[in-house]
Amino acid sequence: MKTIPYRPVRMRRLRHSDMLRDMVAETTLSPANFVAPLFVRRGENIRRPILSMPGQFQLSPDIALDELGEMASRGIKAYILFGVVDPADKDDRGTHACDPDNAVCTTLRLARDAGIQMLAITDLCFCEYTSHGHCGVLARDSAKGRKSAHDRKKKSTSGRFVPPDAGVLNDETNENLARQAVLHAQAGADIIAPSGMMDHCIAVVRAALDRAGFPHKSLLGYAVKYASSFYGPFREAAESPPQFGDRRGYQMDFRRGAREAIREAKLDVQEGADMVMVKPAMPYLDILRAVADAVDVPCAAYQVSGEYAMFKAAASAGWIDERQCVLETMHAFRRAGASFIITYYANEVLEWLGN
Ligand code: PBG
Repeated sequence: MKTIPYRPVRMRRLRHSDMLRDMVAETTLSPANFVAPLFVRRGENIRRPILSMPGQFQLSPDIALDELGEMASRGIKAYILFGVVDPADKDDRGTHACDPDNAVCTTLRLARDAGIQMLAITDLCFCEYTSHGHCGVLARDSAKGRKSAHDRKKKSTSGRFVPPDAGVLNDETNENLARQAVLHAQAGADIIAPSGMMDHCIAVVRAALDRAGFPHKSLLGYAVKYASSFYGPFREAAESPPQFGDRRGYQMDFRRGAREAIREAKLDVQEGADMVMVKPAMPYLDILRAVADAVDVPCAAYQVSGEYAMFKAAASAGWIDERQCVLETMHAFRRAGASFIITYYANEVLEWLGN
């Protein structure tokens, strides 16, 4: 008979009981780690379901305020606002983004006046506000290129070259973002999150906030944001798909690696970002780990609309245990280095954690 060799190491020892596993757990979830996104649109008493994101709604500011009150009582400490804009309010420069009575600013003021004890974050972008759905001013619509609609039509039918980035003008867009940021700060935003992937937008927005008397408002850079098909349901939710072309001329190419991501994150930090974000989350855990290790500011993970929709679809078909799968991914984000997580699951996660 063969003798069994002496094996002192047994990995299973520490997996022996709940108490033991809890004692040695290295990754934790706390209510303060979660940020809940909200879609707001002008009007009253609106609670319109978003079909591709079951459980998510477009809300008018009054209803959003009720929702925020409930979230606060559940222990959620932060929310991020996205504006949904009526087609009639859209134009080629996204002027409505700088209207102090738009849905985002109105919701911020209502929340501040009601004394909601949550951090207000705003997504700073133009794609929800422009008629073409791109994240900024297009070259064809710039001040010098700005002619009549008739002229533009002539140009586009003349077979003129349309650059693959749709010609989004970087620096002109940054000036508009700065204006929008000051407006958000005035309305009560605590943290502003520029998401358009324009170069140097952090520096421009930081300077504008400081000049306007808001040196204490912090910036969360969407530093590492990939051109991702996982944003599909969001574009339905925010009614903001690009009307032509795509965003690959400004958002990142997923075939690049961690070095580019680190460079993006470090640039944002140099320009004054107080925190950076990696987005999407689940397909980019390697990037999240690399960025979290490379920068000395808190790093966030954004679990985006397509990730949420996949879980919801699989769960409704009965193919996965939604709660267990979602909590597992939340731990994965934290393990990969996320200080906090922006997720449409914020409410449910808090419920599952016993809040
Ligand atoms: C705005 C913005 C988008 C998302 C967050 N901010 C859309 C995009 O870049 O196309 C996507 C979020 C999600 O999918 O949940 N630029």
